Amino acid sequence: MNAEQAKKEILALSEKINYYNEQYYQQNRSEISDYEFDQLLEKLISLENDFPDLKYPDSPSQRVGGTITKNFETVYHTYPMLSLGNTYSREDLEDFDGRVKKALGEDKYRYFCELKFDGVALSMTYENGLLVRGVTRGDGTRGDNITENVRTIRSLPLRISAEDVPVVFEVRGEAFMPRDVFRQLNLEREDIGEEPYANARNTTSGTLKMQDSATVASRKLDCFLYSVLGDDLPFTTHAEGIKWMESVGFHISPTYRLCESMEEVLQYIEEWREKRKELPLETDGIVIKVNDLGQQEQLGFTAKSPRWAIAYKYKAENAATRLRSITYQVGRTGAITPVAELEPVLLAGTTVKRASLHNANEIARLDLRVGDMVFVEKGGDIIPKVTGVELTSRLDDSEPVNYITQCPECGTELIRREGEAQHYCPNTDGCPPQIKGRIEHFIQRKAMDIDSLGEKTIAQLFDEGLVRTPADLYDLTFEQILSLEGFKEKGTENLIGGINKSREVPFENVLFALGIRYVGRTVAAKLAEHFRNIDSLMAASEEELVSVPEIGERIAQSVRSFFSADQHRQEMERLKSAGLNLEMGEVENTQVSDVLDGKTFVISGVFQDYERDELKDLIRNYGGKVVSSISGKLNYLVAGEKMGPAKREKAEKLGIPILSEQEFTSMINQANVQE
Ligand code: IVH
Repeated sequence: MNAEQAKKEILALSEKINYYNEQYYQQNRSEISDYEFDQLLEKLISLENDFPDLKYPDSPSQRVGGTITKNFETVYHTYPMLSLGNTYSREDLEDFDGRVKKALGEDKYRYFCELKFDGVALSMTYENGLLVRGVTRGDGTRGDNITENVRTIRSLPLRISAEDVPVVFEVRGEAFMPRDVFRQLNLEREDIGEEPYANARNTTSGTLKMQDSATVASRKLDCFLYSVLGDDLPFTTHAEGIKWMESVGFHISPTYRLCESMEEVLQYIEEWREKRKELPLETDGIVIKVNDLGQQEQLGFTAKSPRWAIAYKYKAENAATRLRSITYQVGRTGAITPVAELEPVLLAGTTVKRASLHNANEIARLDLRVGDMVFVEKGGDIIPKVTGVELTSRLDDSEPVNYITQCPECGTELIRREGEAQHYCPNTDGCPPQIKGRIEHFIQRKAMDIDSLGEKTIAQLFDEGLVRTPADLYDLTFEQILSLEGFKEKGTENLIGGINKSREVPFENVLFALGIRYVGRTVAAKLAEHFRNIDSLMAASEEELVSVPEIGERIAQSVRSFFSADQHRQEMERLKSAGLNLEMGEVENTQVSDVLDGKTFVISGVFQDYERDELKDLIRNYGGKVVSSISGKLNYLVAGEKMGPAKREKAEKLGIPILSEQEFTSMINQANVQE
């Protein structure tokens, strides 16, 4: 492909991707699958790598991240990012309305109502239509420049291509992680043995401060905009600004309303009290803004907040109850979670008896004592939380909580790794909930899919001393199962049938089922694909592991340490004998020679005798591997015409041999001569 063709293709791909993106975020429709979308994006990225001059600043490939920022630069806001005064009652709102009325005299005014989104405030600057800067609120005067991370928010336009776009303007809004994305993220974390995140807001905040923008991209953040600022903007009301943002492609929550009076505002508040729970993010109230911008100016600001706007906060549903005791749960990975055992109390329609306390730091932060009256709240999190202590009614003889030092299940001394909030029980192979937890993980649908086996039966099998590791399941006899309480012939047959059937699940499922820390389903699939069978994986060094795309050091270390333990190696032998799938299904072998055995290649530019895919296949057929980026470990760069100068420079700097098309051909021909 020449540069001209590449340019055409890049523009066509970008247009397509932008179209699907807009469909998804503005119209809530997806015409293609996620997979197809990713394929388009991958194609674009690969073309841009080959023709770096054609990588435009508003290319949708910017969304996938890939930059590492060690320290975010501090930048001053052009206009300070203020906060809002809060109210909780009708009276407060009427007082606010009274102040507005008094200041505006005879003038008629209207209120623009929006929901108060509970995310992370961001400010984005556009110059000549291009997104040039994304900054956090910081202290209101200065924030962190997190542009690279902000670019990964797919609903945020990288370029505004409407007519009459102001040369410079700033938009502000609230970044958030949609509920379903947050839920999925936590499921994945549980899969790899990590503690789930406590709530979407903090997760969003943490995500936006990550150094690797590729990780940020994978977190699928979204952003609702709620204001547009700039010198000499053509709007006279807030509503016009919102409508304009909507029309040029910003994501605006369709929940706003222009109200004629405080009466209508109060109606709006009531309407959204319950309905807001169906929105894709947490909201904690509404924001009421005087609509006319001239009137806003007339009203002005106090030191901290505008006099033309106010936030009405919905009272979180909470209740006071007594803390009876603190118990401690032990998870599959040995993580200890303290739980508040409460005197039952009615909260938002359900009786609450327990609330998670997360870790020792949280207990210290709340200064919690057994016997205290505590406040429990049900926010967006499904599990209620303890938000505070009623200190005035604290009993005189109460004492600070002594966090446990030994595992409540097996008595082993707990450990706390440096930098982690959680305590762990290190007795991995002897602690009952850890053993049972691993079996539960092993049999789940996404893993070995033994649906005839549940938590209760696992406990029975454990108590009877029949099952300690997954391999024990495959040694169970009909008689052993039949002897369990509640089991008749039919149930026994079912269970045996389910266990037998699991022998057929693919290798990648088995790998995930093992419960190796940090090896979730995606990672398991990548490892299975690369190493093809358990023996090669077990033999792989940390270095080989990290050479697999998307496998980092943390995963590599965890895999290494898992397979270097004797008992795990024995377990693998037993699973092998039990007939589990510990290798990938056969793929058609097209390899004709091993002359390039183990060598890695990057191909770049255009070639006379080969199409790119043809070249890739050739390399593979001769035993080599095609990778996408140039690193110190690369063996060869095959350079076609029009290869970007940056690539050549990088390869030269790292001392990587650069092969011309002819040199590559003769390398392969040598193999043909030898054979
Ligand atoms: S307007 C002068 N509108 O609330 C401040 N803010 O306490 C004007 N927020 O930092 C802000 N939803 O992060 C505005 N619809 C909305 C909002 C909203 C959430 C946040 C924002 C701001 C904080 C102010």
